[in-house]
Amino acid sequence: MAVTASSVIIPAMVFFMVFQLQYEAIHSYTPVHYIVGDEDGWDLVITGASWANGKKFYAGDVLEFKYDRGTDVSVVDQEAFDNCAVNDKSIEYSDGDTNLTLAFGANYFICSRPLICQVLCRQVRMAVTASSVIIPAMVFFMVFQLQYEAIHSYTPVHYIVGDEDGWDLPITGVSWTNGKKFYAGDVLEFKYDRGTDVSVVDEAAFDDCAVNDKSLEYSDGDTNLTLAFGANYFICSRPLICSAGLKMFINATAPPPSV
Ligand SMILES: *[C@@H]1O[C@H](CO)[C@@H](O)[C@H](O)[C@H]1NC(C)=O
Ligand SMILES: *[C@@H]1O[C@H](CO)[C@@H](O)[C@H](O)[C@H]1NC(C)=O
Ligand SMILES: *[C@@H]1O[C@H](CO)[C@@H](O)[C@H](O)[C@H]1NC(C)=O
Repeated sequence: MAVTASSVIIPAMVFFMVFQLQYEAIHSYTPVHYIVGDEDGWDLVITGASWANGKKFYAGDVLEFKYDRGTDVSVVDQEAFDNCAVNDKSIEYSDGDTNLTLAFGANYFICSRPLICQVLCRQVRMAVTASSVIIPAMVFFMVFQLQYEAIHSYTPVHYIVGDEDGWDLPITGVSWTNGKKFYAGDVLEFKYDRGTDVSVVDEAAFDDCAVNDKSLEYSDGDTNLTLAFGANYFICSRPLICSAGLKMFINATAPPPSV
């Protein structure tokens, strides 16, 4: 019988990891039902780290996730967890109330919206690792591992699109973005004359220079937009102006790790 504590250092990340390993003999175990985040639910107010801290999770325990429409809980693999980006192995739940049973081994949960997971609050993700060993005589020896990380310290950059020319035809999205490295969470400030606009669009609208029902149009002359993780498409909704070059594509990567 031993209690073992160990730590993992993830290079270049400010991770504060607590591994709580313990085992105890249990003759009959009734799974515990948890409400993640307690009264706050699965939301930015809580953090996976703060909520999980100090709790002992057992494989078979049920986590009930309560969350607003517009967010979700996704069961992901470690790669998706580390990148705050769901992949084809992720399972997304978005009905607002989801019961998930902790699997044996690693359990990774994130909000699939990269900005919520990665930038606004990197801690809205939770990893619980549970291991168990069944030995004869029906005694369970459970090993639990809790880990959490400190808040990521990346400070987003504020850009004026087109610099002194603003979001206007003298610039093109291509010429202005050339050579720049953008991170999710960076803010682009669009300054433009009345009569033009900046529209956040999908790839189809970008390619066609034609807004569609998924486009978000801003026309107040000064608009701050936060870059999402991955593809970001901006156009002027007026087809002739867009076709003349007032369109911009930015592929934002995850913020650089803090030291
Ligand atoms: C989750 O489990 C709890 C407790 O058993 C139950 O009250 C709740 O209705 C369940 N939620 C869903 C969405 O199944
Ligand atoms: C955009 O952000 C900049 C920098 O924070 C600020 O000076 C400016 O007023 C903002 N513009 C709008 C329309 O919110
Ligand atoms: C964005 O960059 C990532 C990483 O380089 C790449 O995998 C992805 O395909 C790019 N997305 C687009 C739309 O170019």
